[in-house]
Amino acid sequence: MSIKKSSAIWGGRFEEKPSDIMEQINASIDIDKRLHKQDIAGSKAHAEMLAAQGIISTEDNKAIQKGLDQIRDEIENGAFEFRTALEDIHMNIETRLKEIIGDAAGRLHTARSRNDQVATDFRLWVREACDILMEKLEIYQATLEKLSSQHEDTIMPGFTHLQVAQPVTLAWHLGAYREMAQRDKSRFEDCRKRLNECPLGAAALAGTGFSIDRAQTAKTLGFDKPTANTMDSVSARDFANEFLFACAQAGLHLSRLAEEIILWCAPQFGFVTLSDQWSTGSSIMPQKKNPDAAELVRGKTGRLNGNLITLMTVMKGLPLTYNKDQQEDKEPVFDSFDTLCLCLEAMTGMLSSATWHTDKMRKAAESGYATATELADWLVRELDLPFRDAHHITGQIVKLAEEKGCKLDDLPLEDMRAVDSRITEEIYTALNIESAVNSRL
Ligand code: ARG
Repeated sequence: MSIKKSSAIWGGRFEEKPSDIMEQINASIDIDKRLHKQDIAGSKAHAEMLAAQGIISTEDNKAIQKGLDQIRDEIENGAFEFRTALEDIHMNIETRLKEIIGDAAGRLHTARSRNDQVATDFRLWVREACDILMEKLEIYQATLEKLSSQHEDTIMPGFTHLQVAQPVTLAWHLGAYREMAQRDKSRFEDCRKRLNECPLGAAALAGTGFSIDRAQTAKTLGFDKPTANTMDSVSARDFANEFLFACAQAGLHLSRLAEEIILWCAPQFGFVTLSDQWSTGSSIMPQKKNPDAAELVRGKTGRLNGNLITLMTVMKGLPLTYNKDQQEDKEPVFDSFDTLCLCLEAMTGMLSSATWHTDKMRKAAESGYATATELADWLVRELDLPFRDAHHITGQIVKLAEEKGCKLDDLPLEDMRAVDSRITEEIYTALNIESAVNSRL
């Protein structure tokens, strides 16, 4: 009877091939092929170190380096054939290496396991992702700063409870988002700093008996140092969770601005018009110009939050050390990276091409009794009233203006004096919207 032996790299003790469904559930190549650059860099560093330590020969190392360079070129040129039967990126590359250089390929995995290999690849990938996102956040910030510098004098209502509260400038309002972006950036910086330790050498979980040089591989790959504990090295994924949180939080901030843009685009606000490039039409209502990009930025926070919860849930309760569950770590991370890149680019494009209706903003600030706090402060300063009394008097004056359907600074002096006879003409300087803004911002 002929036995169909497994041809998998790990198949020494296996007599049967995996079932098709087993192959399907086990394979991660469609996802983790995005780690190819990191996997090749990690393998090259590992082989160099093995040769330097005399664990493999110089000739074998040379062949391995050359073969890996060729594979990198093949992948970059689209000539590489990724095979599902070879499970993941690590085995796809190693198998191809064997085809190219023969038996020397089998020496590459000395003193290494896929467990420390994937942990290393993934840290390298997330590290680069942090760098890219920090750069994109900076571009987004620069757009906010440029807009702010153009709108130092653009007066608009500041809101609490979405009710007109006090007059502010558009520059100040956008400046708030600049601060958020600054903190978002620092979260990626922080995440990058903490993840920058090299798991290579942890092997499967317990290290290796070969006299490897972990400091060398760490240095070659740009890590600050090797990780301290081999078991933690192969099982830790908190760096990925941190990254996912940083993405979710940055996305959440973008969604708040997106929401404001959506509101401001509505004719009821009319503060801003998005360029045609950043809007869509309706298939039935010809008059519509919809802020779809902003809505999608708002909507995509759903998947950013979801990705964080996905990995937190995958990792919860896993016993040390590596478990195959952890193969589920990459998809959410890749997706959050792609999503946040897209959202940052969309917000940057949308903001820099929008038309701001400064007249509408000013009108809204003037019509919402936005200087009522100034009036109360004037009563405190000039008449030495306790603030609570001043607040009460101002409330009565606002009510009067409301009844007359006029702005605060259009309310005749005798009406104000009917509420409190100590009020003088001087009050109107406090009600001027510019001076109200200038005295505070
Ligand atoms: N594809 C695997 C992953 O992403 C690589 C590690 C496999 N390790 C193992 N012991 N089966 O997690």
